[in-house]
Amino acid sequence: MPDERLDVPPFGVLSGARVRRVLSGREKQVVELVEEAYRRHGEGGTVNPPSYFLRFPDRPTGRIIALPASVGGENAVDGVKWISSFPANVVKGIPRASGVLILNDPRTGYPYACLEASLISAARTAASAVLAADWLTRGQERPTRVGFFGTGLIARSIHAYFAATGWSFDRVGVHDLLPERAAGFAGDLRAAGEDVVVHDRPEDLLRSCDLVVFATVAGSPHVTDPSLLAHHPLVLHVSLRDLAPEIIKDAANVVDDVDHCLRAGTSLDLAQQLTGDRAFVDGTLHDVMTGAVTVRRDRPVIFSPFGLGVLDLAVGKFVHEAATRSGDLAVVPDFFP
Ligand SMILES: NC(=O)c1ccc[n+]([C@@H]2O[C@H](COP(=O)([O-])OP(=O)(O)OC[C@H]3O[C@@H](n4cnc5c(N)ncnc54)[C@H](O)[C@@H]3O)[C@@H](O)[C@H]2O)c1
Repeated sequence: MPDERLDVPPFGVLSGARVRRVLSGREKQVVELVEEAYRRHGEGGTVNPPSYFLRFPDRPTGRIIALPASVGGENAVDGVKWISSFPANVVKGIPRASGVLILNDPRTGYPYACLEASLISAARTAASAVLAADWLTRGQERPTRVGFFGTGLIARSIHAYFAATGWSFDRVGVHDLLPERAAGFAGDLRAAGEDVVVHDRPEDLLRSCDLVVFATVAGSPHVTDPSLLAHHPLVLHVSLRDLAPEIIKDAANVVDDVDHCLRAGTSLDLAQQLTGDRAFVDGTLHDVMTGAVTVRRDRPVIFSPFGLGVLDLAVGKFVHEAATRSGDLAVVPDFFP
């Protein structure tokens, strides 16, 4: 309507503690939101340009990534996640990742919320991993021995999402470069009733599991021997840079978005450089969901999610609405002039 009046939306802030409160116990809903966001993305109902990586010559291990995106439809929202990764934080006692998620109103363009983003990011990442594991094992027996390669926040979140969405395992394997981190995760898993094996040698973890989750901070491939995956496990390659391109090129590869995944020095990017094409990519998770692609099971199946900003926005909008309803949102009066 041309003469419709528009109001400036109120600007709200949501702390990590409040985000945690909203997300707690809502894992199934978050998986559904992520599935819906993948469908919308697959149908062309989103805008999701490449993530922008800010790096620092004097601090080569750190980075801050901007993920701008727009989700269309009845739950339309625009925005950006701005998330830092400083891996050295961990040994100094604070989490690696920190960030904010800004939601913009699609009608006015105004930013209307700033949410703590590390928990939303971990939740949508875990939901996407669990969703992929579900779709990639449909019509088959589910894996019974899961292995976590890297045991930080993302590994913990993925385990929590498996548990909350009805998955159970006979055994959980864990491995981490830092033995105290593996031991800490193992202790928490045992307290939750899991049968846990800590593997000092990464090859023992890989050989003994039929579902492997990579959640390290490796910057370049460190798993190079294809025989370690000769039993054709399902691999959730969440950290994206662990597997040698020689392993990737001979596996069945499913991604969240082909253009996103084949860049930024991921293992798939290296495989593209090695082979000169993208023929080793079977398709996207959306292709699997729609039946457009059937994944070959005569080789390891590797899901590599680049991590799409549309997922953060979909989950962030849901969290914002729930927090508004419960009175948890701290509105900043007169934020806009
Ligand atoms: N694809 C996505 O959508 C997505 C989203 C969020 C995070 N991530 C990635 O997930 C990874 C894990 O994130 P996090 O928050 O849990 O990090 P974190 O720093 O809390 O934990 C990472 C763990 O991996 C261990 N590790 C590092 N290199 C290792 C190696 N070579 N072998 C074994 N263990 C190793 C570290 O000691 C640490 O315990 C990061 O690489 C992050 O970028 C991906």
